[in-house]
Amino acid sequence: MSANDTPHRLNVTDIAKLYADGQRIPVLTAYDYPTARILDEAAIPMLLVGDSLAQVVLGYETTVRVSMAEMLHHVKAVVRGSRRALVIADMPFLTYGLSVNESIANAGVFLREGGAQAVKIEGGLRSARTIEAMTKAGIPVMAHIGLTPQAINQIGKVRVQGKTRDAARALLADALAVQEAGAFSVVLELVPEQLAAAITQRLRIPTIGIGAGAGCSGQVQIISDVLGLSVDYIPRHARRYARLHETIDAAVRAWAADVASGSFPGEAETVRMDDAILAEALGRGEEDRATSMPGGGIPLDRDL
Ligand code: KIV
Repeated sequence: MSANDTPHRLNVTDIAKLYADGQRIPVLTAYDYPTARILDEAAIPMLLVGDSLAQVVLGYETTVRVSMAEMLHHVKAVVRGSRRALVIADMPFLTYGLSVNESIANAGVFLREGGAQAVKIEGGLRSARTIEAMTKAGIPVMAHIGLTPQAINQIGKVRVQGKTRDAARALLADALAVQEAGAFSVVLELVPEQLAAAITQRLRIPTIGIGAGAGCSGQVQIISDVLGLSVDYIPRHARRYARLHETIDAAVRAWAADVASGSFPGEAETVRMDDAILAEALGRGEEDRATSMPGGGIPLDRDL
């Protein structure tokens, strides 16, 4: 492969340019190599290895349960599967924010070992010091405010944030704080559309909405919601563009039926060999008839 064949891996400066050009930025979550390849080939500029991995892929009840090791495993796969997209690693619960040094060290693992180009952390004002320290250390940070799922044990349930006057002001303060701390973008999750639009207008960094209306600078969605892979729960803000659950279900049922009927594998899926060679291998050849193989070895037809 020549240098010209290797696409340029996007960085936060490229994202800032998309934003400055007024382009609406699409972001999708990705958790594995084949999906990352498809999304990358579709020119999705940012792939988020979200800690939604916990629920979507690993079957945990909340994102609180996922570990650094589990996230790192999937970040590496997404980096291997993509050549152009900026890959963002979501930092798991309590791997940041306890101490600045520990936060930087953990974020560094995602960049150095995992190959990601940025990390995402939850929290506005409460995470500003961490964002500032990470940014100064050369780690681009996507902030995440509004509904912050890692706080689920505190907030009780998934619900729209910022609906009262005080909550709206607090959210605006969070957005400004993460911008001033150096975040290159900020996710707004489950925020009323007018408030998300007002925040977007006041910031110099892109807002990436999920359940925050069309007034954000970009949108992020969970890939399994877009593809219709999840059937248990589809959030109101998601739109299904495919029905992969049904597609996969129909495909595996058809395959199992073909196995049961004997029609899989057929000629097209089968390899054959020279019958004469097989006959020799099984001890049915001319020479084999004259000799015998007493006392062991693989039982060939001639020994039976
Ligand atoms: O973990 C995740 O997938 C996220 C998105 C919902 C933004 O944080």
